[in-house]
Amino acid sequence: MQEKLLTLKETALNDIREVSSIEEVENLRINYLGKKGEITSILKEMGKLSKEERPVIGKVANEVREALEEAISSKKDELKTIEKNKKLKEEVIDVTMPSKKIRVGKLHPISQIIDEVSEIFIGMGFSIAEGPEVETVENNFDALNAPKDHPSRDMSDTFYVNSELLLRTQTSPVQIRTMKNNELPIKIISPGRCFRFDAPDATHSPMFHQIEGLVVGKDITMAQLKGTLNTFVKKLFGENTKTKFRPHNFPFTEPSAEVDVTCFKCEGKGCSMCKGEGWIEILGAGMVHPNVLRNCGIDPNVYSGFAFGMGVDRITMLKYEIDDIRLLFENNMRFLEQF
Ligand code: PHE
Repeated sequence: MQEKLLTLKETALNDIREVSSIEEVENLRINYLGKKGEITSILKEMGKLSKEERPVIGKVANEVREALEEAISSKKDELKTIEKNKKLKEEVIDVTMPSKKIRVGKLHPISQIIDEVSEIFIGMGFSIAEGPEVETVENNFDALNAPKDHPSRDMSDTFYVNSELLLRTQTSPVQIRTMKNNELPIKIISPGRCFRFDAPDATHSPMFHQIEGLVVGKDITMAQLKGTLNTFVKKLFGENTKTKFRPHNFPFTEPSAEVDVTCFKCEGKGCSMCKGEGWIEILGAGMVHPNVLRNCGIDPNVYSGFAFGMGVDRITMLKYEIDDIRLLFENNMRFLEQF
């Protein structure tokens, strides 16, 4: 029996030495040391032994079991270390490898100009008003004193939703909303999107942006309009910028003017940006028409006001020397990232 145990020990130790996975070691443990294992079955025959033999064989059996347990656990440790080292090698992180670039977005050039213009007017005590892009015909035309046969009302110029609603063609309807819903005096600007039935080309887009301005109160004069716009253009285009008011016609202002600024590239000498003129047109303006005040429940004999409206896309294109308005709306990152 002792012989049997010692041979078992030898084969078992050999087996353990040769396996190469933890799973196999575990199988060997079950085979040799488990409840139905070989050592247990040998020990079951101990009953057949004499009183003298029993402790001797028992001792050998224990030694064999201990030896196997020891061999198994150190084999397990060995395999675990091998596995760990293998994993470490496979999962090694190369800290010198360049990382993926994180792309941070930035404000669209039009948003940048809207922010810049807004800052300037906020500095002069204006607040920001907002109006919807889908407007009533009433606010966009009627209350703004546009004659019933005004060409801008035409289906070929304006996107109508139905006979009463349209996509606003200008930010001027915000004037009506502000005057109807607020106490006087009023001093607001209103940036926003506008829409006109235009085929896109280098200078036209069916969707574009304006910033409206409106001041209404007692003793508001054309001189204040000029002063406000002069201050504004100096802040936006540079201290040497001058304005020129050319007579014009808008249904909602009287008198009306188109306002030019001295070209900020050549300072008025004439260059390719101003097409040799020295002047660049940037906005429409005027004194709020008495009919418009009346339409909003304001007495034109007591109150007066001025209004102006500028094309944001045009100013953006001038400031950044962009020669095609469509570039602003193609959303090509390589283009937009330049500003
Ligand atoms: N709404 C006019 C336009 O779109 C601009 C304007 C605004 C003119 C306010 C006068 C006063 O051309």
